[in-house]
Amino acid sequence: MSELLADRREALIAAARGAMDTAYAPYSGFHVGAALLFEDGAIVTGANFENASYGLSLCAETVACAIAAHAGRRGGLLAVAVLGGIGGHVGAAISPCGRCRQILNELAALGGTDPLVLCVGDHEVAEMRLSVLLPNAFGPANLA
Ligand code: THU
Repeated sequence: MSELLADRREALIAAARGAMDTAYAPYSGFHVGAALLFEDGAIVTGANFENASYGLSLCAETVACAIAAHAGRRGGLLAVAVLGGIGGHVGAAISPCGRCRQILNELAALGGTDPLVLCVGDHEVAEMRLSVLLPNAFGPANLA
């Protein structure tokens, strides 16, 4: 684990927790928060944003990536924390859905990092590299 991540690990998890409180999830009732840690120490957060046309809902990780990209970030992604639960009560650890794995991969690939994903539960944190969650990913290099 990088020194920066070791130093910022608890702040990253706390940021995901804080982000979860901004979730808009009236349809599923499942509130999710995500936080991204960058090489310069910055943390960018997101929460799920659901839609009355259910399938158009945006996941917390996707929102966080879009906010980071909009702020001009291109790569430098070191770690991701994600947590969630019904009514905002964090339960079992959750990992990013398939679409979010692909979206995280885009941001990571731009900077050549393989971020550590912290899947945060009420009693445990499971840690795995994005490349383990999304092996043999399709990315920007495939279109170069
Ligand atoms: N959700 C996320 O925000 N991230 C994930 O990785 C999994 C699912 C959201 C989508 C939807 O708003 C709610 O959780 C229930 O699926």
